Amino acid sequence: MREFVYYSKSAVTAGNLIKDDLKKAGRMDIVCNVIISAFFTSNAMRNDVRFHLIFDGAPNAPRHLVLESNEEMPISKKNVAGLIKRMLYKSPDSEGLLEVFPGASIERKSFEKVVKELDGERATRGIPSKLGTSNEVPPSSGNVLLLDGKGKDLRELELRGNEVFIIGDHEGFPKDKGKFLKRIDKISVGPKVLFASQVITILHNEVDRKE
Ligand SMILES: C[S@@+](CC[C@H](N)C(=O)[O-])C[C@H]1O[C@@H](n2cnc3c(N)ncnc32)[C@H](O)[C@@H]1O
Repeated sequence: MREFVYYSKSAVTAGNLIKDDLKKAGRMDIVCNVIISAFFTSNAMRNDVRFHLIFDGAPNAPRHLVLESNEEMPISKKNVAGLIKRMLYKSPDSEGLLEVFPGASIERKSFEKVVKELDGERATRGIPSKLGTSNEVPPSSGNVLLLDGKGKDLRELELRGNEVFIIGDHEGFPKDKGKFLKRIDKISVGPKVLFASQVITILHNEVDRKE
């Protein structure tokens, strides 16, 4: 399973705030682009993707949405925003993922908690934990990777296709996430600052080539 986490400080957290102008919904246009890059190739849908979205915008932050490859997921390239909007309308205001459509779940959960849980899941499968479960955690070299232009070159890594790739929105990550993100290994896909959607395409391509 290829797993991605996309964090957005501005993406809105209420369905009624998603209207025709997606930019005004905390750059929901970018959210749609990353989802399309994560799930669609030219003529097919990928069947091995789990995509976490953390929205930290007004008025109900945080929201954790999960989209997972599923033939019955009601998604189309033309109306990704419609799916997000419907998910937000149905969101519980508590922790515990609620599947609101096939392959589409949502809950209230912070970015830090989602990432720690993903890291913990990997630790239980014998991959060293990077973040631990307490606040005082040592850095280590697990499979959770932060996409950052200053990170280690992707081509120096042996990707196994089971990594969790963490990607920021158009503004990257806010300063208050710095301390938490410091513990995570950083990787770069190349010398230019790219759109998050382009980064996802490159990551998929690297893993595709190794399969
Ligand atoms: C449009 S960029 C964010 C630009 C923002 N001004 C910043 O400096 O962080 C969106 C996200 O894509 C990822 N990204 C962009 N270019 C990258 C690169 N060359 N290598 C790795 N990740 C990259 C980062 O996770 C970044 O937060």
